[in-house]
This record gives sequence, structure tokens and C-alpha cells, in this order.
Amino acid sequence: MKIAVVGTGYVGLVTGTCFAEVGIDVTCIDIDQKKIDNLHKGILPIYEPGLEEMVSRNVEKGRLHFSTNLAEGIKDADVAFIAVGTPPGEDGSADLKYVLAVARGIGENMNNYGVIVTKSTVPVGTAAKVRAEIEQALAKRGADITFDVASNPEFLKEGAAIDDFLKPDRIVVGVASERAEEVMTKLYKPFLLNGHPIIFMDIPSAEMTKYAANSMLATKISFMNDIANLCEIMGADVNMVRKGIGSDARIGTKFIYPGIGYGGSCFPKDVKALIKTAAENGYEMQVLKAVESVNDAQKEVLFDKVKKHFGGDLKGKKMAVWGLSFKPKTDDMREAPSLVIIEKLLAEGCTVTAYDPVAVAEAKHSLGDRITYAKDEFEALIDADALLVVTEWPEFRSPNFEVVARLMKQKAIFDGRNIYDAKELHEAGFTYHCIGIRT
Ligand code: UGA
Repeated sequence: MKIAVVGTGYVGLVTGTCFAEVGIDVTCIDIDQKKIDNLHKGILPIYEPGLEEMVSRNVEKGRLHFSTNLAEGIKDADVAFIAVGTPPGEDGSADLKYVLAVARGIGENMNNYGVIVTKSTVPVGTAAKVRAEIEQALAKRGADITFDVASNPEFLKEGAAIDDFLKPDRIVVGVASERAEEVMTKLYKPFLLNGHPIIFMDIPSAEMTKYAANSMLATKISFMNDIANLCEIMGADVNMVRKGIGSDARIGTKFIYPGIGYGGSCFPKDVKALIKTAAENGYEMQVLKAVESVNDAQKEVLFDKVKKHFGGDLKGKKMAVWGLSFKPKTDDMREAPSLVIIEKLLAEGCTVTAYDPVAVAEAKHSLGDRITYAKDEFEALIDADALLVVTEWPEFRSPNFEVVARLMKQKAIFDGRNIYDAKELHEAGFTYHCIGIRT
């Protein structure tokens, strides 16, 4: 089979590379010449564990190509994925201009039957717009070529994207013809060996599935953050409550970890977009509105604890921050709680020294030189009045607390991810604050 993937962002690059990995001929296309030049040199636009090696291996094998030439890339392709960005507009709705521009380009250049698949997260009804755009472009050039559209939402987690792609829990595909179903079945066959299903459905349902999945996951997190906050007030321990409820299979143990709010490019954007889509269609997503406002408030919880600890006066205090990215194993800073927390600390007159293993370059886009970036986690602690653990990178999990204590001016730790043991820290002489746990 031969496929084209348009858009070499996160989803497009992982998708294209993983299809090449199983032996399919893949061309990844992007309008950004610099991005394509870099990819030819093996320089990736994102950090994702294992991806760099996989890209170079498949390029060497001649199965993975990069190009700015859409016409060339989609020539003879059985399937073309649209994986370009859908940035949120001012009002929170997904902006489809890039998706539709690609659809137009495909219509202008396709030369045989193919399935055009939306892979980016797109609102219900987008595949129909893609179809109309392609039909228009074909009509303009008087070409009589049949094609199908399909919706194939992506469920990758940053930091675990390759594994998620190669061994998916499920593959969801929305189709409107048997022919498209056959093509998609053949394409995904190599990924179904672990027995997990490919679920075919109508196109609007597939489009909705993506939003419903992310919204449900975001709901779990906001719900647990609410419970954690109440646990603190009532003297309960959210770790115990989490275990207590998680053992009910209907609830499950995953995605019920409280913290400092969800971030990233997906949950915040998708929750907003679904609220907006519903509103546009005369329906109010009451639960999701609450999910969003709980999350906004949760991003401030750690700061509030710091402020309370210092009696309301943070002026001149030196704060060490461990972790900047919205979660470990990624350099993604989009909607990262660290940004909210650091802005609040700076506004109170603190100085901030942060350490993150990979996200510093990304963080500099928003924080610039308003904070100091340490070369490692220990350097960040020198003379600090408090340590805020913002991202649970594995290397922060078990530091030598004697060294930590020696470096800091005051022994206060604010753990936004509940990764430490309160008893151990008290014994080491620290004041310890975390989320929803008795300390
Ligand atoms: C999320 C979904 O998990 C993927 O299934 C989906 O494909 C992806 O969005 C997408 O739409 O592209 P991702 O944004 O990479 O993936 O990150 P997650 O690992 O899901 O974490 C999201 C946020 O939730 C992080 O800020 C994390 O710290 C937070 N979280 C997660 C919690 O606060 N508690 C938890 O128990 C789990």
C-alpha cells in the first residue's frame, strides 16, 4: 500500500512513521520547507521518546519520505491522511482553514481512487466539508475520479505515542462505503495483532467519539481534583479514596490521579470545542462547563498553598520549580499548569529558578528571561525558600533529600503531583504540602 500523510506535526509524524515501520510506503507532506529540510536531516519538530530512531530507520529503508510537494505525495496513494492543525479560534471553536485547504489541494491533484481520512481532531460534520471541498476541486478541473472520505480519530498520548499507535486499545474509523471500510481494514491489519478491535461506524459518530473520549477523561480528572480539595477540608486522604473507588471495575484505577489540573494541546482544546459545538446547536454541556472551571481553578491551587504558607507575603522569596512541561516525557508547554503558577509567583515579586529535562527551549517562548533556568534539579534548589514540584518527571521521584535540605534556605516542598511520602519528608525536616492528602 502507499499512503500520504499531510501535516508533519505531532499526530502526522507519529502516524506516518508508524505506518512506515510496518512496511507501508509513506510520504509525509508539509508546506513548511524548513520542517521538511530538517526532517531530511533527521531533526524532528517535536520530542517524543523513540521517534527519532524510528524516523531515521524508516528513511534509510526507503519507506518513509518527506516532501513539500502535495501533488507528488498523493500520486497513486491509496489513502491520504489529513493531520494538519486545528487551532482554537478566539471563541474556542476549531479553526478548519488548514484542513479544508489540504482537502482542496488533494482534490486539485489526486489521480486515482483514494480514501481521504481526517486524522486531526475535527468537529462533527468536518468530513462532510472535506468531501464537498474535494468534489468542488475535482469539478473545477473536470476530473471524474471517485473517492471516499473517512474519519479516523487519534488516541495517542504524548510521551507514549509510538506504543499507543503500534498497540492501540482500539481503532475507530467512520466510513460511508464498503470500499473505504475494506481499504482501512487492510491498512490497519498489522496493528490489530494484539486482538484489539477496529471499530467501524458512521462518520459523525467517529468524529464525536474523539471529543467524547477526551471529555470523559478530562471529567475524571476534574472530578478527582474536586474530591481531593474536599478531602483536604474534611480531613480525608484522597490516595485512600482513589484506591477505594478505583477497585470498582466500573470506575477503574486509571486517570483518577488528582494534581494541578490537566494541560496539553488536547483536553483543554477539545473540552472547549465540544462546549462550543453544543452551544452553536442549542445545547448546553453543563458537566463540561464545570470540568473546565474546576480545571482553571486547580491550576492555582499549588500557588495558593505557597502563599498561605508564607503568610500572604511572597515578595523577594526565591522559588525552585521542578518541571515545566504539562506532563513528563514531552517538551509540550501548551496550557501547562507551570505557566499559571510561575506567572502568579512572579506577580507576587518572587524570583523563580526552574529545571526541566527537555522543555526549557519551549518554556522560553512564554517565560523568556523572566525566570532563571537551572542546569539540573539540584542547582535550582540553591538558597530556595520553597520547592514546587510541578511535573512528575521520573528523576524527581526519589531525590536525595539530605542534599535537597542542604541546598535550600527553607525546607518547604509543595508537591503538585503527590509523588512523595509525607512521613519520609517530615522525618527529613521538611514542611510538605500536596494535593488532597493529610500531611
Ligand atoms: C490525551 C489523551 O490521553 C489521548 O488519549 C488523546 O489521544 C490525546 O489527548 C489527544 O487528543 O491527542 P495527552 O494530552 O498527551 O493525551 O496527555 P495525557 O497523558 O492524557 O494527560 C493529560 C493531562 O491530564 C496532563 O496534564 C496530566 O497531568 C493530567 N492527568 C492525567 C491528571 O491530572 N491526572 C490523571 O490521572 C491523568
